[in-house]
Amino acid sequence: VVAPSEGILLAMSAALRANDTVVCMSPNYQSLSEIAKSVVGCKVVDWNVQWCGRTNEPIFLVEDLKELMSSYRVRMVVINSPHNPTGAALKPHDFEEIVAICRKHGAYLFSDEMYKGLERDPQMELPNACEYERGISLNGCSKTLSMPGIRIGWLSTNDKKIVERVEELKDFTTISPSVVSEVYASYALRNRCQIIGQNRERIARCWSIMKTFLEKNEDIFEFYEPAGGTWIFPRLRGGCHASTFVDSCYQHARVLAIPSKLFGLEEDDRIRLTFGRDETPEFVKIFDGAMEKIKQDFKRNAVYN
Ligand SMILES: Cc1ncc(COP(=O)(O)O)c(C=O)c1O
Repeated sequence: VVAPSEGILLAMSAALRANDTVVCMSPNYQSLSEIAKSVVGCKVVDWNVQWCGRTNEPIFLVEDLKELMSSYRVRMVVINSPHNPTGAALKPHDFEEIVAICRKHGAYLFSDEMYKGLERDPQMELPNACEYERGISLNGCSKTLSMPGIRIGWLSTNDKKIVERVEELKDFTTISPSVVSEVYASYALRNRCQIIGQNRERIARCWSIMKTFLEKNEDIFEFYEPAGGTWIFPRLRGGCHASTFVDSCYQHARVLAIPSKLFGLEEDDRIRLTFGRDETPEFVKIFDGAMEKIKQDFKRNAVYN
């Protein structure tokens, strides 16, 4: 049992050595690439998202992973599905292929499963990566069970050496979990299906409100249907820099959106918007009310039109 973000630190510190090569989905939740890079000293190679088809959906192509695996000697592949920040979700047959690729190359598969259960189509839920002999799964109460404050998560793996090393390292981080938090976590886990069911309903409701807002403002947002999670990562049309756009959103609507650069992307052309909370209808209303002013700034700051 670990705090979820602590799990990333412990698992990567246990499995990796300086100068190892790690392939990580890009963009990503920062710790997934940065711990390997800055804490352990690994070389991190990006498995870049592709924006595919007419609907411009985010997809991680297994073909791209295969190419990376044959170009580098890779010690670990890092995946996260449903994926923060794009809302992409790997398909079960892609996941099987990823496991086969890792097996062929003798690589660890670190799977951040924090949003597992929030696939738009429940049939798309993936198996736990820890079923693979070199797989390490990270899950926790913060996201699907809506309890970020209790700081309870867990790492699962069949690799005994990783378990032993994580146990040793945990003596230098949090030693043991809070008993009070464990009690809350046990209640949440016993009611897992009900909590996830409520969350899925709320997300579906809030996405339809967010979608209406994005459709209304399609002159500046290019969007798609997220396959999972609680975010959308729309592209800004017209060449307005996302970092400038988020400043304007904050100034006129007190909306905090995250620009693509903060997810490690070179292109400053997307923002992440969240729609998982009860307050989404209220926040979208405020955002929509400020759109006229935001669009005036947008036109002034657009690089082309
Ligand atoms: C993909 C992903 N993994 C791990 C975490 C860490 O979870 P926690 O903040 O509960 O430690 C987050 C938090 O946002 C996340 O988005």
